Amino acid sequence: MLHGKLVQVIVLLLLVLFLLNDQLEGRYQWGRRFRTNRIISFLTEKTSSDIMHSTPKHPPKGYLSSKLASSARLANHIFELVSIYGISKTLHRKPAIFIEDSNYHSLVNGVRKVMPGLLNEFQIFDRPVFPEAKNELISQKCCVFDNPSKLENITSKYLHLTGHFYQSWRYFDQHLSEIKSFVKPLLDFSPLPESDENNFITCIHIRRTDFVDGQHHSSNVTFIKPALEFIQSRERERNVRKNMLTVLMGDDPNFEANIYENTVIADKRTEIKNAAEYFVSKNSPDNDLAFSRYHCDTVLITGE
Ligand SMILES: *[C@@H]1O[C@H](CO)[C@@H](O)[C@H](O)[C@H]1NC(C)=O
Ligand SMILES: *[C@@H]1O[C@H](CO)[C@@H](O)[C@H](O)[C@H]1NC(C)=O
Repeated sequence: MLHGKLVQVIVLLLLVLFLLNDQLEGRYQWGRRFRTNRIISFLTEKTSSDIMHSTPKHPPKGYLSSKLASSARLANHIFELVSIYGISKTLHRKPAIFIEDSNYHSLVNGVRKVMPGLLNEFQIFDRPVFPEAKNELISQKCCVFDNPSKLENITSKYLHLTGHFYQSWRYFDQHLSEIKSFVKPLLDFSPLPESDENNFITCIHIRRTDFVDGQHHSSNVTFIKPALEFIQSRERERNVRKNMLTVLMGDDPNFEANIYENTVIADKRTEIKNAAEYFVSKNSPDNDLAFSRYHCDTVLITGE
């Protein structure tokens, strides 16, 4: 059951990550100390020099690469690379990234911080795409699945896609459990509460800042409170004996802290009283993503 939830959580998170359109990046700092990793070592990071100088292997059907939306930001990159990973599985090719310029470098380094295992799946070529690569355009329309199996009979060693974003969950749906394993290892997230036999954790990501501009649909208290109450009333029926706790994440901690009375700002020094039910995360966006993967039983992502 919990496993099913986690799958849901990751799907949701990935789906909506591109909607968040990357307000995530760079607003916070990495401040967390690492605790012993409870996740095994296949997630260990390679250094970028390992990647740049490793000798390409030659898988049977060659490589799949794509022109990446390299000037977009973190959430778009994650979605795009996860989709290319899924497409490469469909086509029995090794996923690859050609480092066209310094933006591609930043893309690789940014995603590696959050999903090191994902980058380990890719062959990184420290050069632009080969001129002899076969170019193909798929996924021309946003958010519409364009079945990549139509490219299955292409025999060129280098197949290079010229679409971008690949914003459909159908590109990677069959590979969810691997994709979950790509997220960086569990950290010490205390004093945020953990999902366990006593606690059911509902998480919400709230995008404000640039979305409170009259042009976008930022969420407000009028929406957030009933939405969370709706989720919790349904979950409470299935988790009768658990404490229902809520973790608020987003780009405007002051707003988050003022939605409910007695909200705990989850700082390392904060002492948590037993009765606390609402917590505001002070983690970096990539740690919020990792927290969601390991500890949110359900996630609501708001803002469009
Ligand atoms: C690829 O080749 C196989 C075998 O010849 C054929 O059955 C299949 O329809 C082809 N696929 C496409 C998309 O052309
Ligand atoms: C909150 O958002 C809803 C939905 O977008 C909107 O209808 C409502 O007017 C907003 N309320 C306030 C107080 O801004």
